[in-house]
Amino acid sequence: MSISQIARSIKASPTLALNEKAAILREKGDPVIHLGGGEPKSKAPLDAIIAAASHLNTGEIRYAPADGIPALKKAIIRYTEENYNRSVAPENVIASGGAKQAIMVALQTILNPQEEVIFPAPYWVSYPDMVKLCGAIPVPVVAEDGTFYPRIQDIEQRISSYTKAILINSPNNPSGVMYSEEFISDVVKLCEKKDIYLIMDDIYHRLIFDGKRPINCYKYAKDLSEKSKIILINGVSKLYAMTGFRIGWAVANKKIIEAMSNIQGHQTSGPSVLLQKAAVGALNGLQSCVENLRVTLENNRNVMMAHLNAFDGVKVTKPDGTFYCFADFSAYEKKSNKLSNFLIDKVQVLTVPGAEFGMDGHLRLSFCGTIKDITSGIERIKWALDPNSPNELYIGDRKLVRDWA
Ligand SMILES: Cc1ncc(COP(=O)(O)O)c(C=O)c1O
Repeated sequence: MSISQIARSIKASPTLALNEKAAILREKGDPVIHLGGGEPKSKAPLDAIIAAASHLNTGEIRYAPADGIPALKKAIIRYTEENYNRSVAPENVIASGGAKQAIMVALQTILNPQEEVIFPAPYWVSYPDMVKLCGAIPVPVVAEDGTFYPRIQDIEQRISSYTKAILINSPNNPSGVMYSEEFISDVVKLCEKKDIYLIMDDIYHRLIFDGKRPINCYKYAKDLSEKSKIILINGVSKLYAMTGFRIGWAVANKKIIEAMSNIQGHQTSGPSVLLQKAAVGALNGLQSCVENLRVTLENNRNVMMAHLNAFDGVKVTKPDGTFYCFADFSAYEKKSNKLSNFLIDKVQVLTVPGAEFGMDGHLRLSFCGTIKDITSGIERIKWALDPNSPNELYIGDRKLVRDWA
């Protein structure tokens, strides 16, 4: 059967596939520990539930405007003022079906075939495929010094006459590192100098640890007029534990937002009004849920670091935020897909292979689950990989026997 060249170039999302795999194994009764997850375990804020429920009760669930309902735009404008010290108009805002759709539609709005988008590696799994869906070319950049902190020279070196945008996600999925203020400032300046777009994926911007403060890209921009080429992405999925609600947004100049709205209007129309109401509830409601989640994640991060630091042969960079860490297991196995499959088969621990994020030899381990999942998960991985481990491991009343080298 013939499918398009673009369709052929796209892989299934590995993280979504892992979620399905975890569900199937659990259904079979396997004692799976999911260290590959990408969503907080806390419940959605009550204000979100109440707002959605009361709209549902009206029984009138209609089409929403392609760019979002006015109440959500208003809440996003306030969020932008409070968190970015920037006043924007409703015409500068679009609400989409998750930050994922906001990024996708932004890319479709700015990219012509063969143009290039630069982003640091390790990168969020969807970036390369999203760029390819536009017929454009992803240009991942690995920091020359081997760290997860790209330097401006690394990025600058990859700029060509085809470069249309730089895409930055900090704090970063999968490494958890937050890029320095100096780096963000340099990227903003570089984009202005080269007259290219800067897409700031700030989806984790407030989930940061050790007293760090969110970095505001606008602070370094010389041009905050309607000519600004910064496209700021955010959403309720991570901060408010509302992944299933699928509400994200973009803030950009009016021309970009108008074009994004035209595309989204033909693609999906506006996101479900019910879920937009829930997002309004979350954004306008009690904000303590965000801080509670942040504190829980910081504690989970500390537990995971304590276990990984005591794991001989594993190298790990302390995450500054998010709920992921990206550990280097290459001393055990250089092929991360092989290692990840081995861990599922032998000890039923799900991890995401680093190859999916553009860095083989690593595994992404999530700390958004329970402390028990983190400690037992790392314990099982250690048992599986350390040749000096005892021959047997009990998981509940299930006995695992180490029958590999
Ligand atoms: C870096 C990054 N950007 C965007 C998204 C998409 O978020 P949403 O659930 O709002 O589509 C994710 C989700 O995992 C992410 O990790």
